[in-house]
This record gives sequence, structure tokens and C-alpha cells, in this order.
Amino acid sequence: MINDLWYKNAIVYCLSVETFMDANGDGIGDFQGLQRRLDYLAGLGVNAIWLMPFQTSPGRDDGYDVSDYYNVDPRYGTLGDFVEFTHGAKQRGIRVLIDLVVNHTSNEHPWFQDARSDPNSRYRDWYVWSDKKPANADEGMVFPGVQKTTWTRDEKAKQYYFHRFYDFQPDLNTANPHVQAEILKIMGFWLQLGVSGFRMDAVPFVIAEKGPEVTKPKEQFDMLRTFREFLQWRLGDSIILAEANVVPKDNVKYFGADGDRMQMMFNFHVNQALFYALASSDARPLAKAVEETLEHPQTAQWGLFLRNHDELDLGRLSEKQRQKVFQEFGPDKSMQLYDRGIRRRLAPMLQGDRRRLELAYSLMFSLPGTPVLRYGDEIAMGDDLSLPERNCARTPMQWSTEPHGGFTKNDKPVLPVISGGAFGFQHTNVADQRRDPNSMLNWMERLIRMRKEAPEIGWGDCKILNPGNNGVLALRYDWRDNSVLVVHNLNATPVEFDLSVGLGDKGETLIDLADGGNSEADETGKHRLLFEAYAYRWYRVGGLDYLLKRKEV
Ligand code: NOJ
Repeated sequence: MINDLWYKNAIVYCLSVETFMDANGDGIGDFQGLQRRLDYLAGLGVNAIWLMPFQTSPGRDDGYDVSDYYNVDPRYGTLGDFVEFTHGAKQRGIRVLIDLVVNHTSNEHPWFQDARSDPNSRYRDWYVWSDKKPANADEGMVFPGVQKTTWTRDEKAKQYYFHRFYDFQPDLNTANPHVQAEILKIMGFWLQLGVSGFRMDAVPFVIAEKGPEVTKPKEQFDMLRTFREFLQWRLGDSIILAEANVVPKDNVKYFGADGDRMQMMFNFHVNQALFYALASSDARPLAKAVEETLEHPQTAQWGLFLRNHDELDLGRLSEKQRQKVFQEFGPDKSMQLYDRGIRRRLAPMLQGDRRRLELAYSLMFSLPGTPVLRYGDEIAMGDDLSLPERNCARTPMQWSTEPHGGFTKNDKPVLPVISGGAFGFQHTNVADQRRDPNSMLNWMERLIRMRKEAPEIGWGDCKILNPGNNGVLALRYDWRDNSVLVVHNLNATPVEFDLSVGLGDKGETLIDLADGGNSEADETGKHRLLFEAYAYRWYRVGGLDYLLKRKEV
């Protein structure tokens, strides 16, 4: 297998232009600001940026309500600024992925405005209509508690329209070939402007059958192949990273048995198990989730994440497990959202405990897949629970101790910068952390470097070892005669365990990738390791210098 599939081992950094860096002083982040921070990102070591929606939008769902797919929202800059940015990223070896939000448009999109105003509009059938309110209109809301229905009456159209999400996000009728053709056109447009692919929003809903009669929507998986084919004709190494929170038995339908559908998918299954494991110090359900998602086409890859811009969705855990995670990480009702998740950022969830933060990121970076980091994670940014819904975890990046954390020179930032306390910009910011060799920022840079030097994780066969302690997760990756072993102690106490089971018959030397120390089996053949509470280690197995030993294709 050729190893130039870049996404198998990338380090993805997700950010919102709006809250990253404001260059023109209007209080809103912009492409020129982001451009100025490209060297920061290159220094951190990320090699792909995922931009959250930045196209023209009324901004009622943080840009996930697009009103013009072929433009940059003027608040963030121009198409010219966008191309300068993709060019600048390319010069630094950083690829750009952008959000592709085509399950729905904004209700202010001219297509919807035209569709609703005339039954004969050519756009009428681009949306999903019903004369009567469908019987299941009160089911399937994605934002329970905030969203009341999935069918809303439009007085102008004199019909109900379907919306899986908020009522200002009418669903596109994705079965309509004209809509499909437009989706391809949108992809083609942005590819031409320098992107390497798309994080595709709400994929199961994009491909679901839609209509008033549909009670159990079937997915039209062929559509995924159409998207993939188009993309690769236009730009061979471009990809789709699918947002699809599905059960493991459906994974193959999204990747395609022959690897002919989505190249990447976020691993929601592992994400939830990971949080349960952290909350309970029991690694077994996480090991099981990893095992259940190991199988996929060789060219496919998982996107691994801890927290993203949405709530931590715990909907697939058992009730008991979910309550355990709530109790540990989001006990207060104000920390929870949509009856299924926690809306906090990771650092406050773990009470800023550096040992646990490192453990969590080290896990995320060493599970099978490609890590997706969120802006601010690298400095352990906090949240602002006084902001509504998911906005609490979307506050501006904290660059320095200057007013508003150096994000803007304006007195009114688009969202307030976290101020005061342990997570306030005065205490948690990039400028201070750059100067401190032991800071989270510098630790993260080292973690990223270590991950890049362990391509076995993205490519290799992953084996789950049994170290005989329920709180210890040990994974071994083998690829082209090289092996990496990653071990994490989820226990709040030190543990001693024997790893000889995972090593070769004769016993193998383990070289610690972080500090170069090594360990070997004792005379009886046992390979005993002693780990402090929450300790983690990445080892190269065998002992020869990896870079010398590494075989290229
Ligand atoms: C998923 C996105 O992650 C979320 O932020 C958004 O609200 C919905 N899709 C609707 O686009």
C-alpha cells in the first residue's frame, strides 16, 4: 500500500475564523487575522486545518445556516483573502479542509426564498414540503428542548417544510438530481480555491430519504460514491471527513466495502467510550469500542477527537454509563445540553488537572486514527457557561494578556473572551505558554512531534493487549517491521503490571519515545512496568533507532 495518503496520519486543527484572530479591529475574527497566525500553527506542527463554516450566513447556528455557498461572509473578509490564506497554508505544508453544510440551507438563502414564494419556482422541489402537518412532526428533533418540531408551516408557501435541525434551516431535497449537481458544483468551486477536502456536515441526514410519508428513512448510500468520485476526478488527493454518528455495524456502509465512499469519518463510538473510560477509570469499554471500529478499508481512516464545537454527545452510552460521565464531568444541569450531552470544554471538565489532560490527549493521539484538535486545546482553554447552548465552548482564542486576550483591539468582541480565574486570558494564553518549556502548549507541540514520528498508528495493525489491570489500556501497532506500544494508566493510583504478553517470545526492549529510557523483561521473562497515577508512555518496540531502521516504500 502506498503511504502517501496524507490523511492517514495527519494532525488536524479545527478552528472558527470568527473567533480565532481579528486583524481589522471590528471585533470579529477574519481571514487576515488567521493568515497572521499561520506560522503559529505551523510551529505547533499541525498539517491540516479544518475551518468551520465561513460562507455568507445570517449566523443563527454559527454559520451552519448558509445563505450563499459561493462566498465568504463579508465579516470575515473576501474570496481574495480566502485564497491568500489557502496559498499561505500551502506554502507551509498545511492542508485546508472546510465544512460542507448541504443537508440544509439558511431560510434566508435565495433558493428557499424563491421556492416558498411560488409553487412553480424551479427551486420549489429543492426543499421538502407537505400540505398537512405530518404525523411524526414532533419526532426526530436534533436539539430537543430548544427545537420544537421538524415540520414548520410557511405562510407564504402555504405548506409545511421539513427541517431536521432548527426551523431556520430548511432541509434540502437531496434526492433531487439538481440539488446533487449543485452540491458537486459547490465542492468543485472550493477545490479550485485551494482546499483539500471537506468536513461534511450531518452525513446520515444528507443521504436519508426525506418526505412527509417517510417514517423510517433509508439512506441512499450511492450518493456518497457520487461525491467521492467527483472529488477524486477533480483533485485526486482530496477527501471527505464525514460527520456521522453511527453504530459500528454501519461503518462499512459509509466507508464503502471497497473503500469507495467516505475516506474519513469521526469516531463518535470511541469518543463516548473514551469519556466513560476517563470517568470510571475502566479501560475495558474503550478497548471494546476500539476493537469494534478497527475494521475498515485500508484507505479509510478515523477522525479522533475529544471535545468539538458541539456538546459531548453521550447518547450511545447506557443510561448508567451516561450518568457516570455526567456525575464526573458535568454534574450541574447548566453544564448539560439536549438531554444527552455535556457542553463544557475539556480542561474545566478535568478541573485543569494537567495529569488527566495529558492522559486524555495522549490517548486521543494514540488510538487508531487521525487526531483532530480544537483551537484552544493546546493551551487548555476553558468555557463560559453564562453563554447559551454550545456558545459556551466557542469563545475567542486567548493569545496574550492584552485586553480581550489579544484577540481583538475592539471593545466588543463577537463573543466575550474568558476573563479572570484559572482559565481567563490573564492566566491562560499563548504568549505566556510559549516561554514556559513545561507549558501545555509546549507539551502539545512535543506530543504532535511524537505522533508524527509514529506512523504505525495511522497505518499499522492494531492489537489490544491485556496487561491484567482493568484501568490500563495497552495498544500495539505493527507496520513494516516496526512496532509501537502505547500504554495508558487510567487509574488514579499507581499500578504495576506485566506486559510480556504483548511482546515477542524472546522479550523485546521498550524504548520510551518521550525520554529515551528503556526497559526489558526480567530473568523470568516477565516485563514489569510501574506506572504512576494517570501516567502514559509511548514505546518503540525492539530498541533500534527508529529513524535509522525505518523502511521507506
Ligand atoms: C452539526 C454541526 O456540528 C452543528 O454545529 C450544527 O448545528 C448542525 N450540524 C447543523 O448544521
